[in-house]
Amino acid sequence: MSKELYNGNNALKAGDGSLLNDKLHSYIEELIPSREPLFIEMEGYAKENKVPIMELVGIEALLQLLRIQDSKKILEVGTAIGYSALRMAEALPNASIVTIERDLERIQAAEEYMSRSKHGEQILLIKGDALEVEELVSGQAPYDTIFVDAAKGQYKKFFEIYSKYLNDDGIIITDNVLFKGLVTEEEIESKRIRNLVKKIDGFNQWLMNHPDYHTVILPVGDGIAISKKKR
Ligand SMILES: C[S@@+](CC[C@H](N)C(=O)[O-])C[C@H]1O[C@@H](n2cnc3c(N)ncnc32)[C@H](O)[C@@H]1O
Repeated sequence: MSKELYNGNNALKAGDGSLLNDKLHSYIEELIPSREPLFIEMEGYAKENKVPIMELVGIEALLQLLRIQDSKKILEVGTAIGYSALRMAEALPNASIVTIERDLERIQAAEEYMSRSKHGEQILLIKGDALEVEELVSGQAPYDTIFVDAAKGQYKKFFEIYSKYLNDDGIIITDNVLFKGLVTEEEIESKRIRNLVKKIDGFNQWLMNHPDYHTVILPVGDGIAISKKKR
């Protein structure tokens, strides 16, 4: 993230994208048990190639939510290299995961990692733009969990398209809703980032007031919104 975004916010100055201060973040991270070697390799690949995968504290929170929910069918929007999909598959051996990615290089990397993992068989990778593959995704519905982690400017569209395929008891988890804390920044130099922040804020306002969902935003990882259908 460029320096222009670090506008006097201590959490941002930590430089690790965390919403917590450095010490607390490191403390929690150090308590997290080590992952299998393939996951460590993927974390290294993501760092080296600047692929934005979920950070450790955030993904642990996501996995715990899925365990509590005992999710059996998950839709993920935004596969990247398959890191979160494989972590979900490992955490929930009885679950199947449908995941969507449009970037060819990342699709290739995801396919390779999935073929090397024993959890890969639980995952169906749909290649294409999430705004255009509804028919394929609906064929696998309904879903217990929908996890949205793709282009932040399109969150409302993803939610509107795919919430139709959620079980009545299902939940929708949306990542990055606090966007490194930038949602509270008043002065952001970059026009592109400013517009993105405006979109995320608009999405958060819309989601929190959605007549059909209860939503809570938790300041974990990059900020996750958890939405559950009202009864
Ligand atoms: C933050 S990364 C996903 C990280 C992944 N969930 C993880 O934690 O391992 C977001 C990914 O969504 C993909 N993406 C963004 N917009 C998309 C769209 N409209 N359709 C499909 N994929 C999209 C990007 O190419 C990128 O690889």
